Amino acid sequence: MRSVIDILDLSIEEINSLMDIAIDIDTHPSKYAKSCEGKKMATLFFEPSTRTRLSHEAAMLELGGTVLGLTGTESSSAIKGESVADTVKTVSCYADIIAIRHSFEGAALVASKNASIPVINAGDGGHNHPTQTLADILTIYREKGTLSGLTIGICGDLKYGRTVHSLVNGMTRYEGNRFICISPEELTIPEYTEHIFKEAGTEFEITDNLEEALPKLDILYMTRIQKERIEKPELFESLKGKYSLTVDNLAHAKPDMIVMHPLPRVNEISVKVDDDPRACYFKQCMNGKLIRMSLILKLFDEMIINTQKDFSPKGATYFGGYCHNNKCITHIEQELESQFYIDNDGVNRCIYCDYEISKEAK
Ligand code: NCD
Repeated sequence: MRSVIDILDLSIEEINSLMDIAIDIDTHPSKYAKSCEGKKMATLFFEPSTRTRLSHEAAMLELGGTVLGLTGTESSSAIKGESVADTVKTVSCYADIIAIRHSFEGAALVASKNASIPVINAGDGGHNHPTQTLADILTIYREKGTLSGLTIGICGDLKYGRTVHSLVNGMTRYEGNRFICISPEELTIPEYTEHIFKEAGTEFEITDNLEEALPKLDILYMTRIQKERIEKPELFESLKGKYSLTVDNLAHAKPDMIVMHPLPRVNEISVKVDDDPRACYFKQCMNGKLIRMSLILKLFDEMIINTQKDFSPKGATYFGGYCHNNKCITHIEQELESQFYIDNDGVNRCIYCDYEISKEAK
């Protein structure tokens, strides 16, 4: 069974072909209107969502399928303490595909290991958000005409912003991209994302100064400070409002720079910027629906050809030990044994949250 938990679960060729189909769907929607007739998607959203849930649901409906789902923890047996594994084993009896969002990192991986239907990770805590990256990559391709040789500024909460972690994993795989990471020191990129840059040989710079970086950028990817993931409320209070893109500072950007944001925005971009042709965040919403349509079709196709289960880009793994990331799903899921992989630098990482366990010589 093929699931998409990490953007690395898809090869570059597959991402390119998902984009081609998404563009074809946009041009000839009627061709696809009955493609998923008789199929059901379950959306299991244990964390709030507007775009991700509704775009998955709209995608399924526009393909002729139907949707059922859960929102929040209160309305389902999760509040009674039911595990992710038991939830998805149950949902596998009622639906044909699952999109899941959960506040613990690695929850979607647990879901994919236990469901008998394909699982799409719609966000696992502050870790990953691969379908947002698909929407972002399609937007970049359509707006810039290329996915290579771009200077990409990622700005805001780079520590807890899952869209940024997946975007880095996606865009470092295309040639010649360069990143400028703009954040307060307290919210800088996590170690596992910095490792991605190093492993890919991607040039990157870390700064807290948006004004200085702005003129160099082809893409500015703004993000919200993730209030719900910052443990100390006083830290959030001191950092909120740190970055705000206005019509005035946009005047210093390249005339063809694009402004992206996964949304929701909380003052990071002035509403007045929406009228600037460089503003692309609502285009991302539309592209998000199209690429999710394309992904749903692909996952159903792969069920027929029966692609190997447990497709993992992480290589060999071993059991044992303990993950010290307190947001990792291994801390709440019943009898889930910790499992690790060793990256190319000999660093042992949790397969669920990529948290570094220890450094050992290769
Ligand atoms: C983001 C998310 O949920 O990670 N939104 C989205 O899915 N489009 C960004 C955020 O919540 O800040």
